[in-house]
Amino acid sequence: MGVPKRRVTKKPAVAKKPARGKRDGAGKKRDGAGKKRAKPDDPVVTVRRIHRRDLNRVWEFLKLSFAKVNLETVEYQRPRSMKRFMRTYDEEGVEQLVFEVDGAIVAYAECAHEVLGKDNWINENYFERRKMEPLFVEELAVHPDWNGRGVGSFVMQQLEHLAKVRGLSHIVLEVAENNEHALQWYRKRGFRKLDAAIFMSMSVDTEPELLPPQPVKPRAMPSPDALATEDDTAGATEG
Ligand SMILES: CC(C)(COP(=O)(O)OP(=O)(O)OC[C@H]1O[C@@H](n2cnc3c(N)ncnc32)[C@H](O)[C@@H]1OP(=O)(O)O)[C@@H](O)C(=O)NCCC(=O)NCCS
Repeated sequence: MGVPKRRVTKKPAVAKKPARGKRDGAGKKRDGAGKKRAKPDDPVVTVRRIHRRDLNRVWEFLKLSFAKVNLETVEYQRPRSMKRFMRTYDEEGVEQLVFEVDGAIVAYAECAHEVLGKDNWINENYFERRKMEPLFVEELAVHPDWNGRGVGSFVMQQLEHLAKVRGLSHIVLEVAENNEHALQWYRKRGFRKLDAAIFMSMSVDTEPELLPPQPVKPRAMPSPDALATEDDTAGATEG
């Protein structure tokens, strides 16, 4: 079987949408959604399964792709941990897909049909009760230099294809609510919110742990009687 390929548009789509099938100012033909169509000389993105030798490169790619997202989220979104990532390669049932243009990694996706690994928090019953057969997507990232050129859409197309050929009814993934770009991107592609696990915070009127400086009372002046007693006692001992 040949490697699936897809042409990617050379430049990000522009905001202004000309009418369906019309040409833009530069004379490039656009499709119905107002996006530039790829031309025969545009770069081609290919997909393949990961090899062990790719692991370090993919790890670095993931850190780079999530750097901006991680700046804005309470929890580091992805990648979770290097140890976990390296272990995943040896886990049965996990698909790790590398997307390349001319040998450079432009995207990565990781998915599994079953909830895998001991450190997983997914409640399988949730899906069973709803008769859902999900493809769980653990990672999905596009290199920042390739954003907006249809690479992500190709990744999603590939994931949907995997679900389809395996008879799976849904694609399920986790995204931070404040990763607004991705959230909007998923919504546009038919994803709907399943659950509502969110981080909450309440502000507390703070107080320092240690108390402020406290004035100290002046030394008490001894009473005349006490002074007299002190003198008597001193005399008795001296004698
Ligand atoms: C979310 C993400 C996968 C999208 O990938 P992508 O390759 O940019 O996706 P596409 O090119 O197929 O689509 C991008 C959309 O944004 C628009 N866009 C235009 N210019 C853009 C730009 N400079 N950057 C990003 N998107 C742009 C595109 O027109 C397209 O619009 P559409 O939704 O109407 O089709 C990618 O931004 C990403 O990897 N983000 C960081 C990691 C992340 O958040 N992953 C998901 C968390 S689980």
